[in-house]
Amino acid sequence: MFLKKKKEYVEYFNSNIFEEINKLKKEKNAILLAHYYQIPEIQDIADFIGDSLALAQQAKNTKAKIIIFAGVHFMAETAKILNPDKKVIVPDITAGCSLADSCKPEEFKNFINKYPDHKIISYINCSAEIKAMSDIICTSSNAVKIVESFPKEQKLIFNPDKNLGAYVNNITGRNMLLWNGTCEVHDILNVEKIIKLKQKYHDAKLISHPECKATILKISDFVGSTTALLNFTKNDSSLKYIVATETGVIHQMKKESPQKEFIIASNEENCSCNDCYHMKKNTLEKLYLCLKNESPEIKIEEKLIDKATISIMRMLELS
Ligand code: 13P
Ligand code: SF4
Repeated sequence: MFLKKKKEYVEYFNSNIFEEINKLKKEKNAILLAHYYQIPEIQDIADFIGDSLALAQQAKNTKAKIIIFAGVHFMAETAKILNPDKKVIVPDITAGCSLADSCKPEEFKNFINKYPDHKIISYINCSAEIKAMSDIICTSSNAVKIVESFPKEQKLIFNPDKNLGAYVNNITGRNMLLWNGTCEVHDILNVEKIIKLKQKYHDAKLISHPECKATILKISDFVGSTTALLNFTKNDSSLKYIVATETGVIHQMKKESPQKEFIIASNEENCSCNDCYHMKKNTLEKLYLCLKNESPEIKIEEKLIDKATISIMRMLELS
């Protein structure tokens, strides 16, 4: 009897969860920001979906009292740094990032101390502590522009993504020192497997995120941030794409271009290696609970916020 009731409750809850979340958002004057790598249901209920730059810009400009960030920790942390007086809550506080984790503040401090004449550009996928040690932040959509804002003779350190750093070095002709970090989702992609996919789907274009290895970027028809990839598929005339990034973005691609076919560039057919384990920790149920309880909340020391704001604001001013 109890089990039957519990099952009925779960069914009721699941069918009404969108309504419940929308009701709570309104009551609490909360905005839901979501990254393209979130599960489709979260993307569908979000007030704004975007790449890392667009999400930071949206967080900076929102008038809402509460920001619910459906993404990973460094993204919500950036929103908090830009809104120290607002409550920033997340569905799962343990949703991290392999890139951010690859750059520990103590190790990075020792590294940069060896190069006092270098300026430091950090990819937004890093902790608040690393942002506080950086001269400027960049995302995958503005990395080239940010690097080119420095004079050619200026020595630069780029961290933590060595693939994005090498890609930008190649485009700009710079020779930035690169931290040895990678994204576990993009770096695992294997060029031989992708060449096989290209042979199988010979009429498809290969589009890739710059967190992929150089060997993959070299054979790609287009390279860009999640928003840039989405816009490319919207405006380009092809009907088929091999997509070398996390699976989540395909939801918006299909919505924007239902007549087109999107093939995920994974190493094995039907494997889930392109699902970001961290991004996919967020569920509708956790989202509902975090909004209801206004927890877990992102908390950062005031001193750290003051330091980290400078490098983020420099990026926003240049973007
Ligand atoms: P963008 O959405 O800025 O391209 O970033 C991709 C990513 O890996 C986020 O973690
Ligand atoms: Fe980090 Fe990669 Fe996941 Fe993005 S996709 S959050 S870079 S591990």
